[in-house]
Amino acid sequence: MAIERTLILCKPDAVSRGLVGDIISRLERRGYLLIAMKLMQLDGERARAHYAEHKDRPFFGDLVSFITSGPLVAMCVEGESAVDGCRQLIGATNPLSADVGTIRADFAQTIGRNLVHGSDSKASAERELAIFFDASEHVSRKHDLERWLKDS
Ligand code: RTP
Ligand code: MG
Repeated sequence: MAIERTLILCKPDAVSRGLVGDIISRLERRGYLLIAMKLMQLDGERARAHYAEHKDRPFFGDLVSFITSGPLVAMCVEGESAVDGCRQLIGATNPLSADVGTIRADFAQTIGRNLVHGSDSKASAERELAIFFDASEHVSRKHDLERWLKDS
């Protein structure tokens, strides 16, 4: 078993379209545990740090201006292989290539408004979670995790 934590963002398009509940619901129905969650508006500095891997890409400016354009919901999510499992639920970057049944295929049309972010590796998750949360904001779900492990 590999219990992991990952960063999930309901980006500003998800918040403005009222899809936060649907997105969280899909994560919870899979059995993932919410460890931390907040509604916030990201500043430019943190947005550039979050998307640092894309800093030389032509769409970097648009990415930063969109992610800072309105409130987003940031979450730390925990579960078995949560990094890959959440990416599976989210679907391919371009909603047109995403499998039906994934969040992006079911709710999104374009790559620039694809609703959700999910960390792409354990190292990215650790780095990104530190941008959005202090360690003290993570709440232990030890009992829920133990129950979930016992039942699975
Ligand atoms: P994310 O980081 O948001 O979970 O998405 P991802 O791993 O599936 O995709 P990534 O390559 O990390 O790209 C980050 C976000 O940049 C936008 N993007 N636009 N115009 C383009 O070619 C392009 N490519 C990527 C998307 O909004 C993507 O989610
Ligand atoms: Mg990415």
